[in-house]
Amino acid sequence: MKTVKILSACLFLVFWTSCTQESKTKGDPTIEQKVEALLSQMTLEEKVGQMNQISPSSDLTEVAELIKKGEVGSVLNLVDPKAINALQQVAMEETRLKIPLIVGRDVIHGFKTIFPIPLGQAASFNPELVEEGAHIAAIEASSQGVHWTFAPMIDIARDARWGRIAESLGEDTYLTSTLGAAMVRGFQGKDLSDPTSIAACPKHFVGYGAAESGKDYNSTFIPERTLRNVYLPSFKAAVDAGAATFMTSFNDNDGVPSTGNQFILKEVLRKEWNFNGFVVSDWASVTEMIAHGFAKDGKEAAMKAINAGVDMEMVSYSYVTYVKELLDEKKITMQTIDNAVRNILRIKMRLGLFENPYVDVDAPSVLYTAEHLQKAKEAAIESAILLKNDNGTLPLNETIRTIAVVGPLADAPHDQLGTWIFDGDKNYTQTPLKALQKEYGDKVRILYAPGLAYSRDVKTDGIAAAVQAARNADVVLAFVGEESILSGEAHSLADLNLQGAQSELIAAVAKTGKPVVTIVMAGRPLTIGRDADVSQAVLFNFHPGTMGGPAIADLLFGKAVPSGKLPVTFPKMVGQLPIYYSHNNTGRPYQGNETMLADIPLEAGQTSLGNTSFHLDAGAYPLYPFGYGLSYTTFSYANLNLSSDKLKATDTLTVSADITNTGKYDGTEIVQLYVQDCFGSVTRPVKELKDFTRIFLKSGETKTVTFTLPIQKLAYYNIDMDYVVEAGDFNLWVSQDSQKGLKASFVVE
Ligand code: GLC
Repeated sequence: MKTVKILSACLFLVFWTSCTQESKTKGDPTIEQKVEALLSQMTLEEKVGQMNQISPSSDLTEVAELIKKGEVGSVLNLVDPKAINALQQVAMEETRLKIPLIVGRDVIHGFKTIFPIPLGQAASFNPELVEEGAHIAAIEASSQGVHWTFAPMIDIARDARWGRIAESLGEDTYLTSTLGAAMVRGFQGKDLSDPTSIAACPKHFVGYGAAESGKDYNSTFIPERTLRNVYLPSFKAAVDAGAATFMTSFNDNDGVPSTGNQFILKEVLRKEWNFNGFVVSDWASVTEMIAHGFAKDGKEAAMKAINAGVDMEMVSYSYVTYVKELLDEKKITMQTIDNAVRNILRIKMRLGLFENPYVDVDAPSVLYTAEHLQKAKEAAIESAILLKNDNGTLPLNETIRTIAVVGPLADAPHDQLGTWIFDGDKNYTQTPLKALQKEYGDKVRILYAPGLAYSRDVKTDGIAAAVQAARNADVVLAFVGEESILSGEAHSLADLNLQGAQSELIAAVAKTGKPVVTIVMAGRPLTIGRDADVSQAVLFNFHPGTMGGPAIADLLFGKAVPSGKLPVTFPKMVGQLPIYYSHNNTGRPYQGNETMLADIPLEAGQTSLGNTSFHLDAGAYPLYPFGYGLSYTTFSYANLNLSSDKLKATDTLTVSADITNTGKYDGTEIVQLYVQDCFGSVTRPVKELKDFTRIFLKSGETKTVTFTLPIQKLAYYNIDMDYVVEAGDFNLWVSQDSQKGLKASFVVE
């Protein structure tokens, strides 16, 4: 297999990139001079103080004392602007060198105005909208004194059992890279020193989403090639987008906790990517290396983290405690300490904190503005995925006179917001029930009978009232899903069926014979096959945030048309996990006609069932594939055209196809481009998303969609761990999801 190595082009590219990176990441010389001038004045205690982040207790006087002593460089989880200014004043007026604090907070999908959880935003496949959402979050958070968010979370997540899939941008490397970079741009704005900009912190570096069995904090076993081809690219894209900080992940990968992993933090992040922001540990992840069995005590944990390149320690205080001893014992060097402090000071200076350390507590509020709420509604609309719509049940039309609203998520202002809501206020949540009553209550009669009190509720005595409401209605809207506490950090599940008696509720109202529209709000894919089977329509919303109600109401009544596509594969059964579209083919790929469990004849012969890769009780296909999502209209794909079918690795392929809106509603289609490298020096995924675009088409309209694909985008880390495009045969699809599409082939020579 001849490997095409474009040596001259690569060398130029590396040189050019490093120069660009150097100028971009080294920042401007003025800042570097200021950093050096300040660093040269600092004592060891002051240096280590910058490397220490604390989460203040309610007694701020105690924190003020630590700041005064120069022991604190950053605080997190303080969002009272007056308290922040008070502590900042201590740093700026009562310490020797007057180095401002940097204030961090988890602003994951909104600060006060809550957007759909990141997994929901990913379903929009809309980088511009995602960037706007992050910018609104930055405007709101910075107005309260926050300088730095611990986001975007860009772990690749392929296991719905993992609660933190909610915070991710899904299973795909390209989608996560694209949207993660958009979030970095949104948070940081054009200039980090702009008062409405906050520093981003791509996390969790790296591989956390591959936690074994989807159990949070569990070990991962990702070999270097998979790290480089699947898990690292989204973080590289974040560096290229100018991310100011990074956070290490809790997991040990192949036995090495990320917080002590020199390969990812020094070799990859610093040497290969030229990153020169600062790296913060995750919450106590430095001293958790003791529990990992990677350090025998806090002192060794501090040594391993510092030597790996973790510049700032979140809350576990081992740096302040042990750095002097470690220096005296020559287990760490002053150069390492100085580099860590340089990285921290550089970001504080780029943020403009030395010139503007305080937040203006008298500025007019920018929280929950009409513009922010409207953008959050737009995001919730574009994040909704229509999974089923038999007989055009949706949108609800004028024949509908009475609707029955049932289910525990119809009016759940807290749970609708989803996970990672430190600052969102449920009193601002507009729920589906309230939105339906407000916007459509004058057009239709609304009967409300939740049936269950909350998603885990197993008390079924309320179901009778829901059934009665269904009997008296023309259509049933069943709002089900997950309480927010069932998703997010440390909330992994081994069963993905709807919790409690929700499926029973749906079955009971379906038995009335009235059409049922099941609307799900959850933090992860759920195994909702049996619920979908008895529903005429299914609208899935990954916890849609503050404006989820008005968004869903407009979608149900056709004021908006669904366009969302799944950013993650939905399994039929939890036993299929991990399941994702860009899997390898294996030597015995599923043929799709294997004998399934129910059809196995008695005393079947040992090899009679087809020796291929599938589950006897689930097959090999998911319930719904990555990239899938319906509209109220339909689209046809035709006239796939390639600019050439023989290309060199330095060429660019132009791909076009005609997309027609063949239905009666105007709508938006997310057209996807997938490529398969048919064979390589190592096995390759059956396909990978390489581009996508959103197009709006009026009913009957046709547009030609054109993708420009540099063949360099097909490069990957091969058998020799070289990042190259290997010559060979390729397939591509222009498609509406990862399973279908117009197919063509080409060769790279
Ligand atoms: C948490 C999370 C991390 C978060 C940090 C600060 O444990 O793992 O994502 O940013 O602590 O809250």
